[in-house]
Amino acid sequence: MKENRTIIAYVSKHRGNTYKITKVISDELGADLKKADEITPEELMNYDLIGLSSGIYVFGMDRKIKKLLKKIGNGNGKKVFLISTSADPNGSKYHKGVKKLLQKKNFKLVGEFNCPGAYYPLILFGKKLNANRPNSEDLEKAKEFAKEIMEKL
Ligand SMILES: Cc1cc2nc3c(=O)[nH]c(=O)nc-3n(C[C@H](O)[C@H](O)[C@H](O)COP(=O)(O)O)c2cc1C
Repeated sequence: MKENRTIIAYVSKHRGNTYKITKVISDELGADLKKADEITPEELMNYDLIGLSSGIYVFGMDRKIKKLLKKIGNGNGKKVFLISTSADPNGSKYHKGVKKLLQKKNFKLVGEFNCPGAYYPLILFGKKLNANRPNSEDLEKAKEFAKEIMEKL
């Protein structure tokens, strides 16, 4: 593996689902891990590889992720990967807004990971979607994803 410095900026505000997945990927990559609102765009751009990770909240990744990207002038082709968990088992489609921004800012998308995350919305009183997700299988898939990312470096 080539030497690189990796950071993952994350938002996990519902049940810690995204954090669980992100931690596995971060450990596998030997990355630094920070909450998206605790890192500046300048700090982020000091890394060779950037992971942006978030639960899907109202059809998209968290606005803190978009805010970080919007503050960056030009990504200069820097490599980025995306991680999310969602109620929807096909949640990658909600990466669309962030992917558009990445393209506009000249970042290079090198991978996307999504898996179901438990969602206990108050509005569906008592109803539990994706109970106990992410599970050990999801965490294993996350590990595999990290290995694929490493191979691309
Ligand atoms: C306010 C809110 C809005 C959500 N909106 C969506 C959505 O639009 N689509 C979806 O698939 N899941 C949605 N979810 C479910 C979350 O994406 C899912 O529970 C995720 O695993 C939460 O990750 P976290 O525990 O890391 O915050 C929403 C959850 C919350 C709390």
